[in-house]
Amino acid sequence: MMENREMILVLDFGSQYTQLIARRVRETGVYSEITPYTTSIEKIKDMHPRGVILSGGPASVYAEGAPKADPTIYSLGVPVLGICYGMQLMADNFGGKVTPASTRGYGRSPLKILDGGGELFDGCPTELSVWMSHGDHVDKLPEGFVPIASAADAPYAAMKHENLEFFAIQFHPEVTHTDYGKCILSNFAKNICGCAGDWSPESFIESEIRRIKDTVGDKRVLCGLSGGVDSAVTAALVHKAIGDQLTCVFVDTGLMRLNEAVIVEKAFRDEFHADLVSVNAEDRFLTALKGVTDPEKKRKTIGELFIRVFEDEAAKKGDFDFLAQGTLYPDVIESVSVNGPSATIKSHHNVGGLPKDIKFKLVEPLRELFKDEVREVGKALGLSDDIVYRHPFPGPGLAVRVLGEVTKERCDILRLADNIAVEELKKARLYREVWQAFCVLLPISSVGVMGDERTYDNVAAFRAVNSVDGMTADWCRLPYELLAVISGRIINEVKGISRMVYDISSKPPATIEWE
Ligand code: XMP
Repeated sequence: MMENREMILVLDFGSQYTQLIARRVRETGVYSEITPYTTSIEKIKDMHPRGVILSGGPASVYAEGAPKADPTIYSLGVPVLGICYGMQLMADNFGGKVTPASTRGYGRSPLKILDGGGELFDGCPTELSVWMSHGDHVDKLPEGFVPIASAADAPYAAMKHENLEFFAIQFHPEVTHTDYGKCILSNFAKNICGCAGDWSPESFIESEIRRIKDTVGDKRVLCGLSGGVDSAVTAALVHKAIGDQLTCVFVDTGLMRLNEAVIVEKAFRDEFHADLVSVNAEDRFLTALKGVTDPEKKRKTIGELFIRVFEDEAAKKGDFDFLAQGTLYPDVIESVSVNGPSATIKSHHNVGGLPKDIKFKLVEPLRELFKDEVREVGKALGLSDDIVYRHPFPGPGLAVRVLGEVTKERCDILRLADNIAVEELKKARLYREVWQAFCVLLPISSVGVMGDERTYDNVAAFRAVNSVDGMTADWCRLPYELLAVISGRIINEVKGISRMVYDISSKPPATIEWE
């Protein structure tokens, strides 16, 4: 953490929207971090926030054991903004009254801004539509506070302190359904907290380069490239900071997407002139996977072999002190979230990662960024769209998408089919709208007719899902015409596939990958 950086701190009371608050604030050019409401006031002081936002949350302030922040938060000398539960907490802290609302406020609601709402609502029209999601509301304002907006089901939809910089709103400015939501957050961060708003991918790169140089000194750094955006941006950033002190290792397991190795080599060897070791380990992986059909066994086999190959290759390049990893902000905050580490994370997602007892010190330059910010940084560093906008890909690669035994022939068939699907999605300008889209080769054959001949060939599935973080997902309602083109091309062009199906399952209960 850099002490002199302007930062707005979001205290997390467990709202599903907490991450969105930080993201929206960052979009206004002001850096923002999230910390659990239990964080000690000393630690908060050390963070030097220019302002504090109290997030929403599912609890009722009057319930026993309701999450409460240390009330000395109001003595930090910086402005405070309460959102939804944060508003009720502020009202409660200052002696107001919070009661259950007669009707649960959920959904869009018209909001009327009252005279004097000025600083927070600067630039907003006097009437706007906002997103409500609450079961309680402030019934009586605390002393010293005045109302600055009202809504039909919440007479005190927003309040502020008469003399101090304390504001609160019942609605959610962080969701896109709230008109002028970003304007409200920008007013708080810039006009009220006095932040300049000069945080950008470029300024992030600049300060991160300094930080990497300071941390690493003249030591050597090792970075594993997976073909994915996180490791690519990590490597590009570290390379920009320390050049030849970085060595990248790319293990081609033979389970990658079409041309993955070529794309990585082109970017890092040809364009960045980075020290890149690219190992073709296809035979080793396919030999190890021979006869293996159980998904867990596949993962284990690949995970273990991956570590061995990676370590062998790295050892050939001498000693390293640091390992660069593409850890992102959601991974960092997940582990300190209000409800504790998310139970939904699968341990197997670490497959393809590195051993826990690793002797290196870690460099994690992206640990403050959200995925979309990583992409922006990648663009600013000069990485191609092919890398920056690539869909997520599981560590064990095509092994979890070739159901049943994994062979070179089946991987090749799947790669071609998958590439056609992605190509058509890009042509339809829908690739970036979709979280993840891919083909799966099923372990069944089906009858077909090609020309006059009966065929008995593989069935493949196409899956396209929308998601925010991969934890939940919904299948994409892609245009029929596009599905028709994808299926038509795959069946005609890929020898070995004679039938295509489209996966219409959501997660949960289905998962994104088939395995
Ligand atoms: P599931 O199939 O669990 O996938 O719904 C959720 C997201 O995680 C990806 N995934 C993996 N990523 N190693 C990874 O790095 C893995 O072993 C792994 N398995 C699934 C999946 O592609 C989706 O984005």
